[in-house]
Amino acid sequence: MHIQTPLLTLTTSLALSSASKSVLPTPSMGFNNWARFECALNESLFTATADAMVSKGLLAAGYNRLNIDDCWPLHSRASNGSLQWDPEKFPHGLPWLGQYLKDRGFNFGIYSDAGNSTCGGYPGSLGYEEIDAETFKSWGIDYLKLDGCYVDPSTEARYKQIYGHWHQILSAMSEPLIFSESAPAYFSGEDNLTDWYTVMDWVPKYGELARHSDDIATFDDPDAWSSILTNYGYEVLLARHQAAGYFNDPDFLIVDHGNLTLDEKKSHFALWASFGAPLIISAWIPGLEAEEIEYLTNKNLIEVDQDALGLQATLVSQDGTWDVLTRSLANGDRLLTVLNRGAEEGTLNVSMVRAGYADSQGQEFEVKDLWTGDVSTVTDEIEVTVPSHGTKVFIISASEGCESSLVPTGMVFNTKSLHCLTAGSAGAVGWTNCTGADAQVWQVNDGRTVSSLGNTSECLTAVNDEKGSVAMEACKSSTTQKWGYMVTGNIWSLGAKGCLTEGASGSVTLSACGFERNDQVFEMPSGSAGH
Ligand SMILES: *[C@@H]1O[C@H](CO)[C@@H](O)[C@H](O)[C@H]1NC(C)=O
Ligand SMILES: *[C@@H]1O[C@H](CO)[C@@H](O)[C@H](O)[C@H]1NC(C)=O
Ligand SMILES: *[C@@H]1O[C@H](CO)[C@@H](O)[C@H](O)[C@H]1NC(C)=O
Ligand SMILES: *[C@@H]1O[C@H](CO)[C@@H](O)[C@H](O)[C@H]1NC(C)=O
Ligand SMILES: *[C@@H]1O[C@H](CO)[C@@H](O)[C@H](O)[C@H]1NC(C)=O
Ligand SMILES: *[C@@H]1O[C@H](CO)[C@@H](O)[C@H](O)[C@H]1NC(C)=O
Ligand SMILES: *[C@@H]1O[C@H](CO)[C@@H](O)[C@H](O)[C@H]1NC(C)=O
Ligand SMILES: *[C@@H]1O[C@H](CO)[C@@H](O)[C@H](O)[C@H]1NC(C)=O
Repeated sequence: MHIQTPLLTLTTSLALSSASKSVLPTPSMGFNNWARFECALNESLFTATADAMVSKGLLAAGYNRLNIDDCWPLHSRASNGSLQWDPEKFPHGLPWLGQYLKDRGFNFGIYSDAGNSTCGGYPGSLGYEEIDAETFKSWGIDYLKLDGCYVDPSTEARYKQIYGHWHQILSAMSEPLIFSESAPAYFSGEDNLTDWYTVMDWVPKYGELARHSDDIATFDDPDAWSSILTNYGYEVLLARHQAAGYFNDPDFLIVDHGNLTLDEKKSHFALWASFGAPLIISAWIPGLEAEEIEYLTNKNLIEVDQDALGLQATLVSQDGTWDVLTRSLANGDRLLTVLNRGAEEGTLNVSMVRAGYADSQGQEFEVKDLWTGDVSTVTDEIEVTVPSHGTKVFIISASEGCESSLVPTGMVFNTKSLHCLTAGSAGAVGWTNCTGADAQVWQVNDGRTVSSLGNTSECLTAVNDEKGSVAMEACKSSTTQKWGYMVTGNIWSLGAKGCLTEGASGSVTLSACGFERNDQVFEMPSGSAGH
């Protein structure tokens, strides 16, 4: 099973079936009860939420789905094997609720579990997959979140078998349910990430969404901001997997959490929109404040979230305080997102070169601030002032008549150690802590050469010696300076045998390509579909 040489190219492994693309072309938007109410769910919560989503303009803004999470069924199945809703929680029944939602313009989603019990102790779907899929369909449901508690044995192979079985059932339906897979969350955060990486490779083939890591903080968990940053931190490790039709899911928007400032909530929304992530609100929507509704319905950011290209923003730089991300949009514009993690308001200059416009010197760009709608003209760089824990988002358009070459630009980093590829002096290169320096911001050129902004005349080079040395050398377009990047996260040399590797104490070497090893899986800048 474990292939030693990279056989798949990025483009072939990203080629999702057209069926899956049409099931969910853009990320889902709506409501789920879990983070806010956990098991305290019922019919009136859902009807009141739907009514408020209509009256507050959320439906009109695109939030067109209500999803039920765990704890909705009875503890036992009916004698014919079907799941049954709890009639105390849902006195009119789920088909009635589904119709209530449909009448108001919403879609209806549900939760089950791949194992023989849900996380909350209700019946799981293991062994009942066909029956449950049919039951959900007959209740007017079009979206299934399949959790992964109580899968036994809890191996990657077992998860793959069960989620693969569900994929077969759902994709054979005349109108397949949207399939949200929680499998990766059961493998994240381990010392050895091979299984997590492996699960991430198959979830895009089986479904439309994957909950890749931790649950976001629930209402009674005080650490809301750090929870948002944790899930953000997982999401940036996985950009290579996302394309229109499949979306990484960093979990719910916790809009009315008591321990978040307005700037933190707006950051949460702006970062998720920059990722092209699902925007699923878990809050008491009838009680949301006008200022919360205002940011949730920001048209500019929703358009970015729903952009047809479906790419995820990738990191340009991280220095401990500032995170800068970019992304290409379907119309050729470039997104620029700037997060201030610091305790104080601050100002950062970001060059158009860092935003991906390689030959931009002296050119004019139109820059739109997505929070304010203000449009300004900039040359060379943009000055960005951001409050503590705030996020600014801009769309950059090259002015008419100005041909500007877009070059994927940003960090190359190990998604386990989080070390950044860093060009040093005298041809040296190493894996070091990320600082945001030019020597850590890389351009991936058309010809697959890789140069840092520290000196764009030097290219990452496989020296082709016995030690597998890698160095920065003057660019000369030889195959030892060309690199392939695969959805597995491996970076391989076209001119020398082997994959880029993080060796002991941060050395950069070329060694035999292993199977998604901690020391060989990287994120790399991408600028367009299929990189
Ligand atoms: C329904 O659930 C909500 C949220 O947990 C709760 O406030 C409300 O009292 C419940 N209503 C009924 C009728 O149980
Ligand atoms: C199974 O039983 C339940 C509860 O009696 C019923 O609502 C459902 O229609 C039955 N399913 C099938 C497929 O007959
Ligand atoms: C769940 O499955 C495991 C093994 O597949 C089995 O040992 C266990 O008894 C099952 N639990 C229940 C409640 O069915
Ligand atoms: C990491 O996990 C994979 C898959 O379970 C295994 O094949 C590999 O040997 C592990 N690597 C190390 C260094 O333990
Ligand atoms: C907010 O944090 C404080 C201190 O950590 C804690 O006492 C409080 O319960 C938290 N509030 C909420 C709503 O989580
Ligand atoms: C950003 O650039 C402008 C113009 O070059 C300069 O005046 C300003 O001091 C810079 N700001 C920061 C924070 O470096
Ligand atoms: C790199 O970061 C780690 C973790 O923050 C820190 O312990 C270490 O001292 C840093 N190394 C250098 C060379 O700055
Ligand atoms: C950049 O790299 C080229 C090629 O190695 C070299 O000739 C030049 O001196 C370098 N420039 C600087 C400023 O170091």
